[in-house]
Amino acid sequence: MTGEAGGKLLLFGEHAAVYGRPAVGLGVPWRLRLRFAAPRAGDESHVAAARLRAAYRRIGAGAPPAGALEVRSEIPFGVGLGSSAALCVALARAVAPERGGRSLWSAAHRAEHAFHGSPSGIDTGLALLGGVQRFTPPAPGRVPAAQAIAVRGLYLIVGFVPRRGDTAAQVAAVRRRMQAGDDAVRSAIDRLGAIVAPACELLAASAADRAVRLGALADEADDLLAGIGVGSPAVAGVLAAARSAGATGGKISGGGGGGAFLAFVPDRLAGLAALDAVGESLPAGDILPAGDILPAGDTLPAGGNPPAGAGPAAALLAVEPAGVTVLADRDWPAPAARRIALTRDL
Ligand code: MEV
Repeated sequence: MTGEAGGKLLLFGEHAAVYGRPAVGLGVPWRLRLRFAAPRAGDESHVAAARLRAAYRRIGAGAPPAGALEVRSEIPFGVGLGSSAALCVALARAVAPERGGRSLWSAAHRAEHAFHGSPSGIDTGLALLGGVQRFTPPAPGRVPAAQAIAVRGLYLIVGFVPRRGDTAAQVAAVRRRMQAGDDAVRSAIDRLGAIVAPACELLAASAADRAVRLGALADEADDLLAGIGVGSPAVAGVLAAARSAGATGGKISGGGGGGAFLAFVPDRLAGLAALDAVGESLPAGDILPAGDILPAGDTLPAGGNPPAGAGPAAALLAVEPAGVTVLADRDWPAPAARRIALTRDL
């Protein structure tokens, strides 16, 4: 039994989507594949395993067909590029291949609650659907509605840096401030959601100044995200280098606290120049494949360690109606393989 799904990049509306606001994102070309396998000594048995077991239970597919999962991922783990959403979609596909459409999305969405308690459904939507998708707010307890946008000739840089905590921690920190009645956070969430409509109009049109206007919206969103506490000095440094080399603006993408970022560029040539500058400015050093799957700071039992992590990296993407392609990259990690124990305590 096998399953597969793609990674994602939130363009606009992250965090606001958790509070029923719209969002827009992109399926990225990197994919994750998994299959059930017989368990072996040394399979990961700690946090990643506990989360996967909880995700599996939430899909509600009965006893698992085998005691371990082999996961091979081109999506770097835990950096905000959708590894956990892809895992949930791939798992739902593997155990219930007859499901399709919203039924599959709903199963993956239920599973994603094991990774962070209050997902909006946009990450699993992108992992499932790919392309550029605009999400509109759902009825309570449902996945949002998704509408594909045909985007032509869009160039952007995507990358990631080490991350503080994971999506669950960032979402919980913003929620605490919302619940405490922090007006500045509430109005930032409103504006982060409101940016999505003009952004979608720009994405759908191929105006000459599109990259400039998308860049300005991205810069504004990045300031707002920093204001609600999910900014990152490391990302700010990389984005400054990108702007001075021709990017029109950029932002954190996803949960924040570091992790994924994006920068818009006017065309392929400008993108290659900006990618060079981004590559030079990436902070040195390795990170664990932490975040969404294995929270940073967790202690691991001997024998249960995940594989060594991927360092910071960046790539230039081209978006066309036919798909999203990688034009060039700096230090993009090779696919990582993990074996995770699944049956214990199910
Ligand atoms: C994470 O990729 C996006 C967030 O808005 C969380 C969610 O929507 O579930 C931060």
